[in-house]
Amino acid sequence: MSFESLLAAWDGEEVVVRRDEPTDTWMFVGVHSTVLGPAMGGTRMKAYPDPQDGLRDVLRLSRAMTLKQAVADLPYGGGKAVLAVPEVPPAGSDARRTLFLRYAELIGSLGGTYVTAADMNTGQADMDVIGERCPHVLGRSRERGGAGDPAPNTAVGVFHGILATVDHVFGTRDLAGRSVMVQGVGAVGSRLVDLLHEKGARIAVADTEPERAKAAAERVGASVVDLDHVIGTECDVFSPCATGGVLSAWTIPALRCAVVAGAANNQLETPHDAERLVEAGILYAPDYVINAGGVIHLAGYETLGWSKEQMASRLEAIGDTLTEMFRTARAEAITTDDAAERMARARISSARRDRAQENGFS
Ligand code: NAI
Repeated sequence: MSFESLLAAWDGEEVVVRRDEPTDTWMFVGVHSTVLGPAMGGTRMKAYPDPQDGLRDVLRLSRAMTLKQAVADLPYGGGKAVLAVPEVPPAGSDARRTLFLRYAELIGSLGGTYVTAADMNTGQADMDVIGERCPHVLGRSRERGGAGDPAPNTAVGVFHGILATVDHVFGTRDLAGRSVMVQGVGAVGSRLVDLLHEKGARIAVADTEPERAKAAAERVGASVVDLDHVIGTECDVFSPCATGGVLSAWTIPALRCAVVAGAANNQLETPHDAERLVEAGILYAPDYVINAGGVIHLAGYETLGWSKEQMASRLEAIGDTLTEMFRTARAEAITTDDAAERMARARISSARRDRAQENGFS
């Protein structure tokens, strides 16, 4: 597919493309929607086989951010950026600093239409560098006035989401004795394991880094499952907290769980996989709803000035949002993914109507 046909098939507002010759990097910024506020979403840095793959990621991921921000009820629209680099520069290197200073100038030139944050292969230190040149950045370190790592609160949100999902299926939020398979015990998964353990869940973990799996398992008395056996592991809750695309035509028939509820982004390989889960009798907590704790953390602390109590109640509300979606999905015989998208679109349409009225159009 050419650049033109990729863009023609996209329903967003604006894409900015910069070919940054000195750093040999393609910079893509996707502003999918600014109806609810500035387009906010992370910057992914990756060596793509072809820059077009970076553009494809920006288009797809910025659209998903619009839905995520809307369902989380934050004053942000959806955006995403990609730095398609020849190779990821090492952390702390001059080359990396130069790249992020140049990239910050690009974000600054957009005047706040796009607000960035960390994503795959980018982190707090990079956000600090961006913050030296422009204010449109969330997720800087605490020393630089940011809210720090959002992962612990992402885990808290996923935990509340699991409680709501379990409640909908089993009629009780009690996790004592419930079995949970956590795939990936990195920043989010390892914190989630601790929260589940405190509530008496029986936990199994898996990670491509054996040391991480072992450390989490020893901490909470969990069992470690071979990577090849994660999908077939019998459990009440399967919690993907590693990579995307884990729910597909191949994996869904092999799942032995009642519920899928985890942090990983883009869990469904295709939209049709939401229907496959329904057919398999598995309740799916849409990924961008249950993992919104990260954006809630950033927007709540850095933009909206929330207290810890306000943050705790908004993270808990992720469970209420899911419950509402599960009820809609059941009542209307649609997938939970469709119910989530419907909620997001309703919020965006209502904001668009309000804006039109303010501008004198009706
Ligand atoms: P992380 O990189 O800290 O942890 C991911 C873990 O998964 C690592 O320990 C890695 O070794 C492991 N892993 C990778 N592939 C695996 C596989 N095939 N099987 C088992 N383990 C595997 O990432 P983090 O921050 O914990 O995020 C986890 C997921 O949640 C990602 O998909 C991320 O996009 C998503 N997410 C994270 C947020 C955050 O605040 N950190 C916010 C929203 C979503």
